[in-house]
Amino acid sequence: MEARNVTKRFGGVAALDHCSVEVAPGRVTGLIGPNGSGKTTFFNVLTGYLAADGGDVFVDGAKVARPTPQRLYRLGVVRTFQYARLFPDLTLVEILALAVAKPFLSVFGLRVEGGDRERAMEVLGRLGLRALAARRAGQLSYGQQRLLEFGTTLMAQPRLVLLDEPTAGVNPVMIDILEGHIRRLRTEGVAFLLVEHQLDLVMRLCDTVVVLGRGVPIARGTPDEVSQDPMVLDAYLGG
Ligand SMILES: Nc1ncnc2c1ncn2[C@@H]1O[C@H](COP(=O)(O)OP(=O)(O)O)[C@@H](O)[C@H]1O
Ligand SMILES: [Mg+2]
Repeated sequence: MEARNVTKRFGGVAALDHCSVEVAPGRVTGLIGPNGSGKTTFFNVLTGYLAADGGDVFVDGAKVARPTPQRLYRLGVVRTFQYARLFPDLTLVEILALAVAKPFLSVFGLRVEGGDRERAMEVLGRLGLRALAARRAGQLSYGQQRLLEFGTTLMAQPRLVLLDEPTAGVNPVMIDILEGHIRRLRTEGVAFLLVEHQLDLVMRLCDTVVVLGRGVPIARGTPDEVSQDPMVLDAYLGG
């Protein structure tokens, strides 16, 4: 995926100002920057949740005309949200099935199609949550909920997963588990764009790091390059 010169204004303020970022298959690209630098806004534009005021998004070299979440989903681009949003009364299987947007909702409740159930069980197996399949999401620990949210992105057979602060509020053991899943999926060719405040995780996991400052990349490169960039040290790392 490539974003070219993406601009997004809120009122008079440019949250993104000609922001260009490329993400390659089988690579983890980190997106870091101070609060308010435009990371979540960038995710919202890339996944069609917000219309940009300027610039274009390309997938496989082809411009995505009028990006919508549905259109990007069909292209294999899926995301999680900075603040976990799960329906606490639904079971794990139901939540995963909802992610593929086909389940049949009726007055009798949610009916999950066979194929979606099978896929959901596969994803739960992969995440080590299979034994909890029939539990309600609200009964999970916070870390498990975030892992389940990560699981919703796998229902799609994704090609690019955008993760917005997936480790926020999550304990170190669960962070290791999540890191392991990202590493394994990367070897399968899945691309990741990762917004993350834990810099040690960014530095050991990412192939490329893009640093946003006020809506525009101020540095990009390998973790080593970026962490030695004087502009980054000054603007972000507080060195
Ligand atoms: N829906 C919105 N309406 C108005 N301003 C917004 C909205 N969303 C984000 N912003 C502003 O855009 C800037 C970037 O925000 P955001 O993308 O959430 O940054 P980050 O995720 O890097 O912390 C901030 O100044 C924020 O206040
Ligand atoms: Mg954010």
